[in-house]
Amino acid sequence: MSRQLQFKLVLLGESAVGKSSLVLRFVKDQFDDYRESTIGAAFLTQTIQLDDATTVKFEIWDTAGQERYKAPMYYRNANCAVVVYDITQSSSLDKARTWVRELQRQADPSIVILLCGNKSDLEPRRQVSKEEAQKYAEEEGLLWAEASAKSGDGVHEIFTSIAKKLPLS
Ligand code: GTP
Ligand code: MG
Repeated sequence: MSRQLQFKLVLLGESAVGKSSLVLRFVKDQFDDYRESTIGAAFLTQTIQLDDATTVKFEIWDTAGQERYKAPMYYRNANCAVVVYDITQSSSLDKARTWVRELQRQADPSIVILLCGNKSDLEPRRQVSKEEAQKYAEEEGLLWAEASAKSGDGVHEIFTSIAKKLPLS
């Protein structure tokens, strides 16, 4: 017997950290050096094979980082959230912490949250150490990963590690 499970996933984080780029890599395996800032939010879906018997369909809300579009409706009934920061911008981790706090207060208590440090291809410009981010994620009970939408490194793993934490029955 095979089964398909469906989950709502929301991407949150400061503008330009690469939320849309991560989704584009995950859904179409593409990357653009010149992506336009998202207006409002974009909706996409992608299905992954978790094991022989299980496929997981993600319904993805790629939100806009620009403050004027901020709207809680995208995470209200989300099963999971990817909160993204840019490893070359330490201020983007502060913004990610703000999002995590907001999710912890306002989202469904069972929400699975993954903190993602994007742009891992820009190692020479790194401002956020792995240790700092990982320690924070551990303290808050979040999954944590680094990825590069540009190279594709770690992108698929973000979604599979979330899928493994979701209730699969
Ligand atoms: P908003 O829609 O404004 O919230 O921004 P966003 O978080 O969706 O960022 P977006 O995906 O539009 O990417 C912003 C810029 O960062 C673009 O110029 C991308 O090409 C670049 N970018 C995204 N991911 C990566 C990455 O992994 N590595 C590098 N080097 N650049 C990236
Ligand atoms: Mg975007």
